[in-house]
Order: sequence, then C-alpha cells, then structure tokens
Amino acid sequence: MASKELIKKLEETIENFPDFPVPGIQFKDISPIFLDSKLYKHVIADLAAFSKGKVDAVCGIESRGYLFGIAIAVALEVPFILIRKAGKLPPPVASEKYDLEYGSAIIETREGQIKPGQRILIHDDLLATGGTTEAAAKLVEKQGANVSQFSFLIGLKDLKGHEKLRKFGAEIYNILEY
Ligand code: PRP
Ligand code: MG
Repeated sequence: MASKELIKKLEETIENFPDFPVPGIQFKDISPIFLDSKLYKHVIADLAAFSKGKVDAVCGIESRGYLFGIAIAVALEVPFILIRKAGKLPPPVASEKYDLEYGSAIIETREGQIKPGQRILIHDDLLATGGTTEAAAKLVEKQGANVSQFSFLIGLKDLKGHEKLRKFGAEIYNILEY
C-alpha cells in the first residue's frame, strides 16, 4: 500500500516525545503533518485507496480521528459520521461504555446516522491498546451496520490492539507501525 517514500517522509515528520503526557508514554505528535499540505494529501490518498469501493460510510473517533477521517470520506464520496465523547451530541444517541486504565469512558453517535446493513470504515489516528476502537466497533454493530474495515495512521504493535480487533473480522490497515 503506502510507498516507501511516504512512510519515510512520515517517519521524519512525526515527532516523538518520550514521557509525555505521563512517564513511560512515547507521545507521537502528528501535528507537523498538517504543516505540509502535500504530505497530508498523500496520506489521504493512501488511506482512501485502502477503502475505495469497500465501504458505505466512514466513522471517525473524536478528536484526532477527525483529522484524516473526514478527508477520507470526502475522497470516497461517502458519508462521515462523528463518534463523539459522551455528552457532546444532542439526543437521541447510541452509546457504548468501555474501560480505561483508570475508570471508564463513553462514546456516542447521533441515532439514525449509521444505517443498518452499511459497510463501515472505522478510522482513528492511532491504534494503541485498541480499547477505543473496539468500543467504536461495538457501537457500530449494535446499530445493525457491519464493520468492514479499520484504518489508522499509526499502529503500536507491542500494545496488541490488532489482536483485540480481530474478532470483528474486518480488514485492518495502518500506514506506520512502531
Ligand atoms: C488517543 C488516540 C486514539 C486512542 C488510542 O486518543 O487518538 O483515539 O487514544 O488509544 P487506545 O487504542 O489505547 O484506545 P485520546 O483519547 O488521547 O484523545 P484525542 O484523540 O482527543 O487526542
Ligand atoms: Mg483519539
């Protein structure tokens, strides 16, 4: 999929911050990508190529999943649906609760925006433990749609998020893997 040049350019562009926001975490700052619109266009073209003809709608996860997700949907000419953190969308909403390292979180979509039977791409910038994306996939499935694909800019393979997503039987793609 992604060319060697694209991967190399992204590796040079994304900045790594050890021990941010807490000790032990290697924070990958993707914001420099948005300073280079040509690079951003190549990223979108690559992510859109993965999903072309295979999905009826894109769901992006707040907030960094919106940075690429909307542009992927526009490139594919399919709807984009916001998966938001709790309390941001007007009712009625569909929601899914999931566990964090400490405590829990809830994500939501507007009811009716995901249509039963649709083939859905779930997109986020980063796959770490997979907890967020797994909850998003459950949220999509309980509205009668099918998760056909997951895509990410970055997958952190040591955290085994890919394994958590395997049960959905969907294709998984990340441009970069650390
Ligand atoms: C980050 C990242 C993914 C998620 C990955 O989002 O953007 O959404 O964590 O982690 P997981 O695979 O372990 O669930 P974060 O919650 O920091 O919020 P943001 O996108 O609003 O910055
Ligand atoms: Mg996020």
